[in-house]
Amino acid sequence: MFFVYIVGTAASGKSLLTKSFSEWLEDHQLSVCIVNLDPAVRYLPYEPDVDVRRYVSYEKFLESGLGPNGAMIRAVDEIYNHVEFLRNEVEEYNADYVIVDTPGQIELFAFRKVTTGIIERLSMNDKSTLVYVIDSSVISKGDYDLDPYAFTSLLTLGISVKLRLRLPQSMALNKVDLLSLQQLEKLSRWLEEPESILLDVQGEESGIVSRLIEMLTTHEFGDVITVSALTEEGLDNLYASIQRELYGGEDYS
Ligand code: GTP
Repeated sequence: MFFVYIVGTAASGKSLLTKSFSEWLEDHQLSVCIVNLDPAVRYLPYEPDVDVRRYVSYEKFLESGLGPNGAMIRAVDEIYNHVEFLRNEVEEYNADYVIVDTPGQIELFAFRKVTTGIIERLSMNDKSTLVYVIDSSVISKGDYDLDPYAFTSLLTLGISVKLRLRLPQSMALNKVDLLSLQQLEKLSRWLEEPESILLDVQGEESGIVSRLIEMLTTHEFGDVITVSALTEEGLDNLYASIQRELYGGEDYS
């Protein structure tokens, strides 16, 4: 089994990507087990095979008087105590790929102390990789342009997730169906020639941005792939990137 953890900022499209990428894998004769690891989610666009909500109740923590973030932190911490049951359920599927949809707010998952333990106990000795999802509508500037600061800061968040979770990673720039032709052209220029981002950066930030570009060109971020979970474009490239990361990419574990 290969484990693919879908992480990303709130509403970046993790759940829809979980659905569409799982369907893409199944269309290519690969079996999939979908795990929902978000204890607080109300609606999912797919039917999870294994669901953390069976074991961990976010509502219970809310009712105990905690606020929404406090309850979420307690709920994520609580996952650790039930991860063996999740693992047992996953093993019953014996699927080629286990796609794990993670909690909505990235900092409440990727940066919690328990998370590396949850991943280790869920994946055990099976190879794991991350897909860090970026909402490309967030990098839009007006209808025709892109914001280089939004773009590079979201990539920076991605590299800190990779560093925190110490797994190979692909970055999926999701929702590209929402970008205009001009924005898509600029985005592919930025991805093909990262130095061209500097043309859109002024002043003192250019030093920081050029250091980030260096990381981008030396692939320290992992691949950056443009996808749409809605139209399913780019999922073949995402699969190829995941393969590269699973077989050839750096594996810190
Ligand atoms: P949380 O876990 O609640 O933070 O959200 P999420 O990251 O799982 O995102 P979700 O899949 O719920 O998507 C958020 C919204 O973006 C939904 O309305 C989706 O339909 C929409 N969405 C997701 N992917 C795409 C995409 O590729 N294109 C477009 N246009 N909308 C998308």
